[in-house]
Amino acid sequence: MVWPKRGFNASNSLQSLLTELKIIGQLMGLPNNKQQLFDLWAPLYDFLFPSVFYQAIHKRMLEYVQLPLCPNVLDIGCGTGRLLDRLATEHSDLQGTGLDFSAEMLRQARRANRHRPRLIFVQGRAAPLRFADEQFDAVFNTLSFLHYSEPEQVFAEIHRVLRPGGTFYLVDPTTVRPTGIWHVPVSPEGIRLYGAKVREQMSTQAGFRCLKHQYLLGPNLLTIFTKILPKVEPFEKNVNRYEA
Ligand SMILES: C[S@@+](CC[C@H](N)C(=O)[O-])C[C@H]1O[C@@H](n2cnc3c(N)ncnc32)[C@H](O)[C@@H]1O
Repeated sequence: MVWPKRGFNASNSLQSLLTELKIIGQLMGLPNNKQQLFDLWAPLYDFLFPSVFYQAIHKRMLEYVQLPLCPNVLDIGCGTGRLLDRLATEHSDLQGTGLDFSAEMLRQARRANRHRPRLIFVQGRAAPLRFADEQFDAVFNTLSFLHYSEPEQVFAEIHRVLRPGGTFYLVDPTTVRPTGIWHVPVSPEGIRLYGAKVREQMSTQAGFRCLKHQYLLGPNLLTIFTKILPKVEPFEKNVNRYEA
């Protein structure tokens, strides 16, 4: 049996392997930007193995979802719209907007939309969001956050568009260490995985309270956040401030 040389580091070796694969991909002419990559993936998205896995995750997530009557929800990085379809089937009074930056993903979502006009699909990036303040009761984000290069800005934008007391459901693979951030150089621009504590820190800075972490399937962690009500300063403190 051959033992790895002293100083062998599995994580570094994996990182360099992935970097090499990325270079090979570029040489083979694979897209070097995420939007193009998802456009390419879209027509087959629902028929490939990952989608079976993602839909199992959606199904498990719904066990933890609580919505008010007539909810208005947003799904960021909605892909082909499968999660919204499931939500609209379960909640006949739900209105939903799916947002994605891939035109091809949206084409698939619109073609499969069985809940018109309750569900609509619009093109845009996760940040900045082109929606008015406080218009959604819940925001969903499944298996998309790992692709964002500006995670804090996305948290801030979700906070802005949620009504006070609204809920944010985030599902993504997580890291083994709760305080870890893992940058993996696969796909154009890489992906970033965040530990549970890092999610909590980012959310607190944006004005959320973390309600729960729940593993759904393998390393895919659901975290539920609520938008805390704006702090009302005591009357006397306000008076002093105006006097100063
Ligand atoms: C792996 S798919 C997940 C799709 C869907 N949420 C699901 O659970 O099946 C990731 C999706 O996020 C979208 N996406 C990635 N980065 C984005 C960004 N910055 N803004 C908007 N959409 C983005 C991609 O186009 C893709 O449709």
